[in-house]
Amino acid sequence: MFGIVHEEIEAYALEHTTPLPPTLEELRRDTVANADAPGMLSDQLVGTLLQCLIHASGAKRVLELGTFTGFSALMMAHALPEDGKLITCDINPRPQARHYFGKTPHGRKIEIRVGPALETLKTLDGPFDLVFIDADKTNYTNYYERCLELLSPGGLIVVDNTLWSGKVLDPKDEDSRAIAAFNDYVKDDARVQQVLLTVRDGLMLIRKL
Ligand SMILES: C[S@@+](CC[C@H](N)C(=O)[O-])C[C@H]1O[C@@H](n2cnc3c(N)ncnc32)[C@H](O)[C@@H]1O
Repeated sequence: MFGIVHEEIEAYALEHTTPLPPTLEELRRDTVANADAPGMLSDQLVGTLLQCLIHASGAKRVLELGTFTGFSALMMAHALPEDGKLITCDINPRPQARHYFGKTPHGRKIEIRVGPALETLKTLDGPFDLVFIDADKTNYTNYYERCLELLSPGGLIVVDNTLWSGKVLDPKDEDSRAIAAFNDYVKDDARVQQVLLTVRDGLMLIRKL
């Protein structure tokens, strides 16, 4: 889809990844059929990886920037324990989010905060164990700085679209330049350990030291 991973390899990886729970499969189909920009969906590989990270790290408090139709938030909520909590922020959460959160008991773990994420971030108290950054690209470095403050020691920040269809190699537009600058910023940051995975459109895992 994004042209980084060979199409057949991407399909093979999906075939060998745990299938989505039924409500998530329904939400995925609804997003593809009806949402304004279905390409924004993080989808099964990223969603399942987020679940594994939550399980492996024992995360209980999760923050997400970029709700869209609620797919990644609901995937993560499935992985959280009963007393887990997820705050998801969006300037314009799509109607599917609330609808599908209401269809499963895991939705009760999720709170939606509506508004520009930078403003919302000023109102939040940490610590969070895991943060998923997937909102507007031009603010990635600003989001990262604030999220690092809100993150518990050893906590994880996961950042989507960090290869941006490969455009980071020769960034020509504002979003590409912002993502490339963000990747360089993290590379030089001694406060963290990071790995840029070539999963889907690029996924950066960042661990706070
Ligand atoms: C890529 S989508 C999120 C996809 C979602 N995480 C998923 O996996 O389905 C990006 C979202 O960021 C939101 N967004 C854009 N600018 C924003 C801002 N300044 N503050 C908060 N959200 C913003 C958009 O409305 C959009 O829903």
